[in-house]
Amino acid sequence: MAKSSTIILASALCFLSLLGFAYCESRFFVEGKVYCDTCRTQFVTRVSLPMKGATVKIECRDREGGSVTYSSQAETNESGAYSIPVDGEHEEEICEVVLAKSSDPECSEVSKDPFLKKSARVSLTKNNGIASPVRLANPLGFMKKKPISECSKVLRELGMSATEEEQ
Ligand SMILES: *[C@@H]1O[C@H](CO)[C@@H](O)[C@H](O)[C@H]1NC(C)=O
Repeated sequence: MAKSSTIILASALCFLSLLGFAYCESRFFVEGKVYCDTCRTQFVTRVSLPMKGATVKIECRDREGGSVTYSSQAETNESGAYSIPVDGEHEEEICEVVLAKSSDPECSEVSKDPFLKKSARVSLTKNNGIASPVRLANPLGFMKKKPISECSKVLRELGMSATEEEQ
């Protein structure tokens, strides 16, 4: 019920925009980076590598039912960066960027642990005080199968000991 009224409202706004109102034209650019998590830490370290050619997906879901209301994907460039254009307001939805496909078979694991899994939520509405159309998402990392040899040093520098990674 709520869903169909949203659709009607959205198309009404788009119709009005044809008559000169700009409201319907909000377009956002969701930007972020994908890296190879060479130490399996699930955060960026100095030995993390930008991943070119990885696929990310943005998905917006209905707050109540959880059904997907919007979905779009993009590939990362040389610097591991992506920019996904998203049209329209998505204020009432929960939108997040997720890793879809790695471009490196040696570095393609995604953590299933909900605490380790970095959420890259973005707010896609103009009604949140952010004037720019760019929405930055947290960096997302695919984990390397085995941590590289520098990792124990890197972790020591960070004041962490090289613990066994999660199973
Ligand atoms: C990669 O994409 C980002 C985001 O769109 C852009 O800012 C950056 O200049 C691009 N870098 C290269 C090397 O193409």
